[in-house]
Amino acid sequence: MGLPWERIFAGSEQRLKSSAIRDLLAVTAQPDVISFAGGLPAPELFPVDGIRESFERVMRAEGAAALQYGPTEGHMPLRAFLAERLSMRGVKASPEEILITTGSQQALGLLGTVLLPRGSSVLIEAPSYVGALQAFTLHEPRYLPIRMDSEGIVVEDARQVLKSASVTPAFAYTVATFQNPSGVTMSLERRTGLLALSREFDLPLIEDDPYGDLRFSGAAVPAFRALDGGDDAVYLGTFSKTLAPGLRLGYVVAPRALISRLVLAKQAADLHTDSLAQRAVLDFCQHNDLAAHVAELCAVYRRRRDAMLSALRQYMPSSCSWTEPDGGLFTWVTLPEHVNTTELLREAVERKVAFVPGNAFFTDGSGGNTMRLNFSHPSPEKIEEGVRRLGELVTQRLSNVDQGSTFELAGSESR
Ligand SMILES: Cc1ncc(COP(=O)(O)O)c(C=O)c1O
Repeated sequence: MGLPWERIFAGSEQRLKSSAIRDLLAVTAQPDVISFAGGLPAPELFPVDGIRESFERVMRAEGAAALQYGPTEGHMPLRAFLAERLSMRGVKASPEEILITTGSQQALGLLGTVLLPRGSSVLIEAPSYVGALQAFTLHEPRYLPIRMDSEGIVVEDARQVLKSASVTPAFAYTVATFQNPSGVTMSLERRTGLLALSREFDLPLIEDDPYGDLRFSGAAVPAFRALDGGDDAVYLGTFSKTLAPGLRLGYVVAPRALISRLVLAKQAADLHTDSLAQRAVLDFCQHNDLAAHVAELCAVYRRRRDAMLSALRQYMPSSCSWTEPDGGLFTWVTLPEHVNTTELLREAVERKVAFVPGNAFFTDGSGGNTMRLNFSHPSPEKIEEGVRRLGELVTQRLSNVDQGSTFELAGSESR
């Protein structure tokens, strides 16, 4: 007889719910499924040789230091490199305002630990990144979801929510550029408006920006920390989408007062980020043209986005709509209100195509008729074939529903 684990776990179920995405990835990993479900970069674009050379160089030049415990804040030369690189984009950061994290996912976890005491609330975009919700939910906050449109979060709605809240939320969380999941980029006007709200209500603002470098079209919009009055904004970055997610290298830029609290939380979590990976990534950036590598990624992802948008136009019924992102990895499809994409997914998987039902990205049960599609991982040919299968399925489902409602209407008329 083993220990009664289910009883031992009692009470933690709500805080540690399995993520719909993770469960799905297991099904869609089968090779014959065309998966639009994950958020994976294209593995054929990882600079494997360059990264291998960097690891070798680091091991030869400073192997012992790379294998030793390191400072919790991170490898200082990497922090200095990031500070300089960020400042070229207008993001104000001194090396002391940067903490290196084990992916930006860890930064979300640390921010939850530091900023979410029991009974807090968090202002979020609706929809929102599911991994952030997972990290914050460990602290059981109340979510205040704010509607988004094609320009990002609707600031006026946020203002109303803040005005009527009895206690100011612990922070506002936004993925303002090429949002996961919607692909939407917040306009400059909305950013300025949200920043003004943050100052008016003493509301810390967290901008999570894993996709900002992956712009294929349109003009760049500045990060909150690059705006006038944005010095207190928290900025999360990562090498996951520009180099490789397996390196688990991210960073958080924040005012020193917050950095020192995050450092304490990180000490408790894992002491410090992998010393070898930090040095190898810095070495890679010093010996390779990172901007040229990112430009290559953008060229490939742009073709895939274009393939997806043109397939959506070709195969999706006219009652469906979708976002047309200028970068990042995702587009977001909205079907007629009566279609439930969680139910649709079962049939889609039978047809060997997968997506993430949009409902997973909302905290209030809405978004049942939406879905997230990833375009960075499958080839353009697979994208076209996958969207064709999806379009066929949706068309069929809509014609079934239409027939159903006609019968119902006929039935009620005859009564
Ligand atoms: C918005 C957002 N934040 C954070 C992460 C986590 O990234 P990392 O690999 O840096 O932990 C992701 C990954 O997909 C993401 O989409």
